[in-house]
Amino acid sequence: AESWVIMVTAQTPTNIAVIKYWGKRDEKLILPVNDSISVTLDPAHLCTTTTVAVSPSFAQDRMWLNGKEISLSGGRYQNCLREIRARACDVEDKERGIKISKKDWEKLYVHIASYNNFPTAAGLASSAAGFACLVFALAKLMNAKEDNSELSAIARQGSGSACRSLFGGFVKWKMGKVEDGSDSLAVQVVDEKHWDDLVIIIAVVSSRQKETSSTTGMRETVETSLLLQHRAKEIVPKRIVQMEESIKNRNFASFAHLTCADSNQFHAVCMDTCPPIFYMNDTSHRIISCVEKWNRSVGTPQVAYTFDAGPNAVLIAHNRKAAAQLLQKLLFYFPPNSDTELNSYVLGDKSILK
Ligand code: PMV
Repeated sequence: AESWVIMVTAQTPTNIAVIKYWGKRDEKLILPVNDSISVTLDPAHLCTTTTVAVSPSFAQDRMWLNGKEISLSGGRYQNCLREIRARACDVEDKERGIKISKKDWEKLYVHIASYNNFPTAAGLASSAAGFACLVFALAKLMNAKEDNSELSAIARQGSGSACRSLFGGFVKWKMGKVEDGSDSLAVQVVDEKHWDDLVIIIAVVSSRQKETSSTTGMRETVETSLLLQHRAKEIVPKRIVQMEESIKNRNFASFAHLTCADSNQFHAVCMDTCPPIFYMNDTSHRIISCVEKWNRSVGTPQVAYTFDAGPNAVLIAHNRKAAAQLLQKLLFYFPPNSDTELNSYVLGDKSILK
């Protein structure tokens, strides 16, 4: 029997939404009810590294996450594998005399090994980086000719937010119009060099797993919240335009205002869900108050905050000076190991847009 292996390794950072995605209009294809915009982090801090391998000796598709084998039977993995396989092209390794034709891919299996360089249980988004990395690595292995936007539409079917991790810098996920979802994909707004004095700090408030998964939460919000309808139709379309403008002009005051307002509205929409969903806790609320007070006292915003489906604060500082002051404040008001819930470490100390 033949006994060769071809491998590809890719690395993908996670992303944090500044205009949130919350709510699907199609659960199977993962099509959102509104556009969203995110910033991709520096790969040195929160990223996934994935190696994919193909060999005629593999008897089935298998995957290991942080060294532990996990099941690939879920629909999300199957969708990604099927979509990439459908786009596989000829691959040739002349040196080793290996040739895989387009048709061979149908009967070849892959092994996937994926690692996160941050604690998976830290309650920080890991599916975004994970699915983006998986799709990208498989596409390279199978020599798929699709560009990153086209690949993003496949990563989207693994986890919605994953589509935005195919690009660096600031990225927009366009909700799209067509029923098959082919135009629901990510495009880059500006690259990672455009606004490189921003600094992101993640305050790990709690490392517990969230109680309501984003899938369940979104479903319940779509079914019960009237506020979501208003947000998706009337608010987000205008905010997307304003946010793109702020990013292009590096207008931090406007950027911070929109980012905080959108995070707060996302959590308001969760509260408007029946039964209500609480992702933030007292410490999260105190961090918001602290940042709001500080920004107000200076007169111009120094820091923006945003929270996803959990209590951890993502803080975006205008520059290194503001970031240093922010860290000082956090350590003063939220000393590690005190009765506040703030964990003993703060992640992502460097400029994220490198
Ligand atoms: O892609 P999911 O299913 O993990 O959902 C992500 C939802 C939020 O993180 C709360 C918002 C977003 O746009 O990333």
